[in-house]
Amino acid sequence: MKSISYSQQQLMIEQRDVAGLAAEYGTPLYLYSKQQLLTNWQKFRQFWPAPHRLCYAVKANSNLAILQLLAAHGADFDIVSAGELKRVLRAGGSAKSAVFSGVAKSAEELTFALQQGIGCINVESAAELERVEQVAQSLGVSAPVSLRVNPDVDAQTHPYIATGMKANKFGIAMADALPVFERAASLPHIELLGADCHIGSQIMSAAPFLDAAERMFDLVERLATKGILLTHLDLGGGFGVSYEDAGQLNVEHYLSQVLHMASAYPQLTLLLEPGRAIVADAGLMITKVEYIKTSEDKHFALVDAGMNDLLRPSLYQAWHDIIAVDENKNCQDRLLDVVGPVCETGCFLGHARHLSVEQGDLLAVKHAGAYGFTMSSNYNTRARPAEVLVDGEKSFVIREREHFDDLIRGEHLL
Ligand code: LLP
Repeated sequence: MKSISYSQQQLMIEQRDVAGLAAEYGTPLYLYSKQQLLTNWQKFRQFWPAPHRLCYAVKANSNLAILQLLAAHGADFDIVSAGELKRVLRAGGSAKSAVFSGVAKSAEELTFALQQGIGCINVESAAELERVEQVAQSLGVSAPVSLRVNPDVDAQTHPYIATGMKANKFGIAMADALPVFERAASLPHIELLGADCHIGSQIMSAAPFLDAAERMFDLVERLATKGILLTHLDLGGGFGVSYEDAGQLNVEHYLSQVLHMASAYPQLTLLLEPGRAIVADAGLMITKVEYIKTSEDKHFALVDAGMNDLLRPSLYQAWHDIIAVDENKNCQDRLLDVVGPVCETGCFLGHARHLSVEQGDLLAVKHAGAYGFTMSSNYNTRARPAEVLVDGEKSFVIREREHFDDLIRGEHLL
């Protein structure tokens, strides 16, 4: 059975009706299906057998309970800040299980990560390599390192989330890579494990991934001829999900092709860093229609969730399916813009949607499990929603709704 579907025309998440959950916990509300999350995880695990490693990209959804569930199911983690590492540790994961990405890691963050015994630092520039050496030296440790290489492939995704082209700020240009690897291999406090890349996010076809993988395997070979033998190759995340139910990235096919390529390199452990593909379709954001407004040529559903709660539509013009919690309302008689309360024209959840909702009705924004809550903010002094995880008939508050006092914590009157 699907984890999120209608039963008797009421939207259900596992065995709970969404309307009942909204009544219990209020709106806006993030809901997650444990079953869907674990199904997604196990699918990757099945196509990517040990000793190859799956490092869940914490930034997609960093709620402690989500990390706890994934850690309990054998996840390793991809983190991009000391804060994310602290979350992993709090959730029962280990630093050893984590790879640390990010272009501008501070000396404090590197110190903390090395003190905790980080599994690998994904170094993004020649300058960062020198800093890691210094920090490791001052701590008297050897820093496990991978060098992030920019393979210069076009991921064919939104420009804000494409990362693997020459023009992007990420990684070391492929053309400059050899001397940086040689430098890394020569530094006394660097333990050079391998190489990594991440070409972008929400990628819907295997071609750019395979292109990048080929270039990375080629790099491994070129380094071997120089006597630098890597044992670790991290191909990043970026697996797209089908927001519009139009075509699917065939993850199984792509992964089997990579494993096939890798069979020529038995010394290599391969890593992936999926984020979105694990959590996106496990999450819904529920919002209530506060008002319907009709102008000369348009209808608006003014809802209680805005760009501060779910930023993706505003920031990337991302399209999320919006459905009525009561299926009877999913009819075709009115074309509506679903817009939020924040005082910006850019505060919308979707334009031109066919719905017949009225004031007080509930809407569900689909695929909200990834980069939903984690990108939320308090703009307009709006308290962020509660997050609730549903497991069969049970529901758990995994983050409480914020209150005004949470928002002004740390502020002082003159
Ligand atoms: N690894 C690295 C180094 C990354 O930078 C990212 C995402 C991932 C893994 C995970 O990518 P995924 O499998 O989730 O595509 N906020 C944007 C997405 C930004 C992704 C940033 N990096 C969005 O809402 O679409």
